[in-house]
Amino acid sequence: MKNLSLIDEINRLKVEKDACILAHNYQLPEVQDIADIVGDSFALSRAAANIDKKVIVFCGVKFMAESAKILSPDKIVLLPAKYAGCPLADSINRKQLEREKRKYPDAKVVCYVNSSTEVKAISDICCTSSNAVKVVESIDADQVIFVPDQNLASYVEEKVDNKEIIPWAGHCITHARITMDDVFKAKEEHPYAEILVHPEVSEEIRESADFVGSTSQIIDYAKNSTSKEFIIGTEIGVLHKMKNDNPEKEFYLLSKRLVCENMKMTTLEDVYNALTNMENEIFIPEDTRVQALGSLEKMLCVQ
Ligand code: 13P
Repeated sequence: MKNLSLIDEINRLKVEKDACILAHNYQLPEVQDIADIVGDSFALSRAAANIDKKVIVFCGVKFMAESAKILSPDKIVLLPAKYAGCPLADSINRKQLEREKRKYPDAKVVCYVNSSTEVKAISDICCTSSNAVKVVESIDADQVIFVPDQNLASYVEEKVDNKEIIPWAGHCITHARITMDDVFKAKEEHPYAEILVHPEVSEEIRESADFVGSTSQIIDYAKNSTSKEFIIGTEIGVLHKMKNDNPEKEFYLLSKRLVCENMKMTTLEDVYNALTNMENEIFIPEDTRVQALGSLEKMLCVQ
């Protein structure tokens, strides 16, 4: 089917099935364009908790669709690309976190939303890249086990006083592809550009940036800044909205390797198939879901 008729069909199916399409800022441009809501992990979690439709089609990766199901158990949540995972989320499992908790019995656990439902279930509170600092500040403990992203943990440690952060040694394989050579080269080619990066980049890349924020915070920063040129240190998908919002500004990706294969798995055809066949539904055992719900609900209260 051609893209245009696919889009018509998806729009027809959305009404027929009473569905809402959520898409992460990293999705392919054509997928972002058919979504009802496009945003960062925090905005999409909040949307999933409040949606007034029977079906949520989650164009993103598995932990995102699972978070939507945890928050909205009565909804049918579909993940169009069923193999779209997150190696960062897979870098720690329940047993490993249990071991870590035994090592630091007085610590509270903050888990990044890029984590499995099982890890969320035994964490005290969840966070996203947009509210990690505030979440950790809100914790009533001197020691915080922060899983699974060590770069976000180091960013939080830099911003938060009087807490010992115990990081898990996980990282995002896409953001880890950026090197300091990429930064030197980009600065040399575009000396007037501001550098905007995601907190999942390494500490040295972060230190060379003008702004650090979640995908939506980066998009908003570029819109509100008076600068005309930006070097972007996160996944290529964010460029779609940035270029649409700011046709008069120039955007350069820090590295051409900033492409997340998992985020790029979802195609319009997958969305069409998911809605037509109501396939790739997310199921979570009720006891685990209820345990994980607390950490996500607490996170949604911190902005
Ligand atoms: P955001 O919270 O910025 O959407 O980040 C999600 C993510 O997975 C980054 O790699």
